[in-house]
Amino acid sequence: MSIQPMNRTEIKPPVAPGTFWSGRDLVSTRDLSPSEIDAILNLAGIMKARPADFREALAGKHLVLFFEKPSLRTRLTFEAGMASLGGATTFVDQRHERLDAREKLSDIAHNIERWMHAIVLRTFAQETIDGMAEHASIPVINALSDLEHPCQGLTDFFTLQERFGDLKKVTLAYVGDGNNVAHSLLLVGAALGTRVRVATPKGYAPKAEIVADAQALAKKTGAKIELFTDPAEAVAGADAVYTDAWASMGQEHEADERAKIFLPYRVDDALMSKAAPHAIFMHCLPAHRGEEVTDAVMDSERSVIFDQAENRMHVQKAILFLLMGGEMGRIPVRSAHA
Ligand code: CP
Ligand code: NVA
Repeated sequence: MSIQPMNRTEIKPPVAPGTFWSGRDLVSTRDLSPSEIDAILNLAGIMKARPADFREALAGKHLVLFFEKPSLRTRLTFEAGMASLGGATTFVDQRHERLDAREKLSDIAHNIERWMHAIVLRTFAQETIDGMAEHASIPVINALSDLEHPCQGLTDFFTLQERFGDLKKVTLAYVGDGNNVAHSLLLVGAALGTRVRVATPKGYAPKAEIVADAQALAKKTGAKIELFTDPAEAVAGADAVYTDAWASMGQEHEADERAKIFLPYRVDDALMSKAAPHAIFMHCLPAHRGEEVTDAVMDSERSVIFDQAENRMHVQKAILFLLMGGEMGRIPVRSAHA
């Protein structure tokens, strides 16, 4: 295929915020239509190109982050992103006690909504995020659960679009565990018309419910969802090769057993050589160098891992702007390069 990187001078104006976006939750990318996902990616592109135009967009707004699991990228990109929009953040470390251990989730929600304007949650159970969204009158954003990592999935397709342009012509091959990141890549890829191949060992495939939803979406968008057990088959001719930890947060006790099972799924130069000559390497990070990916691949010219990390901030800024009712008059109407 010929590769046409995204030309940001062609960015469409974002969908106008207002009642349509404002106050909504993002607990799953299944909450978003394909055109809404497209709008987030477009707005992220404008925000990346013209950050100064958004410096006051969320002035006076306050975001709270509750994290039951560790984080580098997600915490810092939400904090830096919110600050660059003129808003404030408070981080609450929930690593030592699950969010609803001390108090009913509905009571927590009804407190927070009196002080804050949006809630970002990183949890074990997806149900905690769903429950908070059900009870809180303010937007709730999923910053990773055991089931999904929507902000990561949206960002990864933004990064693919920057590299390749038309996502309908892209083949993304994910190799490793059928985990939260794999789920979000399947769901976002299906919405955007991409060919998404996932190779996992038997017993570690993505959840059937997620695959069924991705396949249903793919029927409407022209995406292709393909599952494999052979990593070489999945990677053959792909434009991008993606992997993630073999043992996710909360599965550390399974790490030794998984290391043996997943060994054939390590992304090394031999596996990368089966992808297209222009193929890029992707990882959500943190990476376990020498396990799911070699140093040589991580540090190669094909690796876009730090672009992905940077883009987390731009995409999350677009999400915050839309869900928290960013000031419409402050959206630039000029093109990205005017
Ligand atoms: N990719 C990602 O979510 O990184 P953190 O766990 O560091 O937030
Ligand atoms: N699958 C990994 C992603 C980390 C960003 C985990 O859940 O630990």
